[in-house]
Amino acid sequence: MTSADLGKDPDEVAAMFDDVAPGYDRTNAILSMGTSALWRIATVRALGISPGDRVLDIAAGTGTSSVAIARTGARVTALDFSAGMVAVGRQRHPEIDFVEGDATALPFDDASFEAVTISFGLRNVNDPHAALAEMRRVLVPGGRLVICEFTTPPSLFVRRAYDFYLAKVMPRIAELASTNPSAYTYLMDSIRDWPAQGVLAGWLRDAGFTGVGYRNLTGGVVALHRGTTPKSAER
Ligand SMILES: C[S@@+](CC[C@H](N)C(=O)[O-])C[C@H]1O[C@@H](n2cnc3c(N)ncnc32)[C@H](O)[C@@H]1O
Repeated sequence: MTSADLGKDPDEVAAMFDDVAPGYDRTNAILSMGTSALWRIATVRALGISPGDRVLDIAAGTGTSSVAIARTGARVTALDFSAGMVAVGRQRHPEIDFVEGDATALPFDDASFEAVTISFGLRNVNDPHAALAEMRRVLVPGGRLVICEFTTPPSLFVRRAYDFYLAKVMPRIAELASTNPSAYTYLMDSIRDWPAQGVLAGWLRDAGFTGVGYRNLTGGVVALHRGTTPKSAER
């Protein structure tokens, strides 16, 4: 069984997701106690999609995040660098266009998408700043970015309860539900190590996004960050 560590070596991260791919969606639904469906609805709404928009879902995994977007009538491209996750995604969602590729070197021309999104992916990317630069590059002027990611609950009470869940409850459930429980030790470590909302918002501004803001979901267990690419004259 393969697991990654906080060095986030791309080969190790991809191999870890290859390992968990067949059971990923089921384990996810159990661990999030069904809440992940609500996070996906909020992500799609935040994207402000018009039918026909070209939307890139980065780190799309098995495509569960992409399917929610496709229901809006958008043309979705689902990108991931784990061959295992992409294979499961292609089998389960033949209507979605899957591309194997790396978030830090996107295989698309400049200005190819009206919207770009990444759900529970950026935290796993070895160089998130390079990925944000790539997201900006492939968006059209005035294009929209939405990031859905675990974050730091602002309330101390929620933070303590969440930390208890991550440290004590999640590993027990992962032992029962996952083919690779060690991957969920990495999940806990990577969540604890991930920067809080304000820092990630700063990274978006550093990458050149404007109108940057965020909204907490489920008491700040998850946050949606959004940003827009400057109109052509400012690019
Ligand atoms: C937790 S899964 C999220 C899948 C999906 N977006 C969802 O919400 O269920 C994280 C995904 O990020 C992918 N990933 C991590 N680093 C990546 C990179 N540099 N380029 C492309 N995909 C990456 C992994 O292969 C994995 O499928």
